[in-house]
Amino acid sequence: MTVTGSGTCSDKIEVIQGDITALDVDAIVNAANTRLLGGGGVDGAIHRAAGPELLEECRGIGGCPTGEARITRGYRLPARWVIHTVGPVWSGGKRREPELLASCYRSVFQIASEKGIKTLAFPAISTGAYRFPPDHAASIAVQETCAALERYPEIEKVLFVCFDSRCLDAYKKALAG
Ligand code: APR
Repeated sequence: MTVTGSGTCSDKIEVIQGDITALDVDAIVNAANTRLLGGGGVDGAIHRAAGPELLEECRGIGGCPTGEARITRGYRLPARWVIHTVGPVWSGGKRREPELLASCYRSVFQIASEKGIKTLAFPAISTGAYRFPPDHAASIAVQETCAALERYPEIEKVLFVCFDSRCLDAYKKALAG
């Protein structure tokens, strides 16, 4: 199921349902934790698919603060790069969670631009184990991505990859504006 936004910035945005580790894009984004040593969810899936070299490179980075991002190679993944970002844990919305999630997208796009990455795929950061409400997370994702596509016009395609239909509905709604 693919939903493509209408309008300028979202011409470059596509929402799909699937497994982000299977995508042949320049970079996939990982919803990591501050230790950057793997975990469950999409983090676990990416490490399993990339192989042990990914963990080796992550060990050398030495962690990542919430709201920031770090880049590694993709190793056995079809994607050349993995941009690891650490989303906020939802605790009611009064502890800068929205700002920190927005910062994840900004950090990822800044790294993507520096590396000349043209196509990238995001999971629904923070909406799983970190319990961020999907509708709110999706609107932050779309808003920050549209701003980034204005700022970095060289980026050609952004995919939002949803693992389940609840997330897909949230992103469809956010893209429809
Ligand atoms: N492809 C795409 N999306 C996926 C995949 C996958 N293979 N696996 C899970 N997801 C989706 C989940 O359904 C959810 O919508 O990714 C979204 C983010 O969920 P989590 O992976 O739980 O990430 P997050 O909520 O940011 O929590 C991060 O969980 O896995 C640990 O190490 C990770 O501690 C960190 C925390």
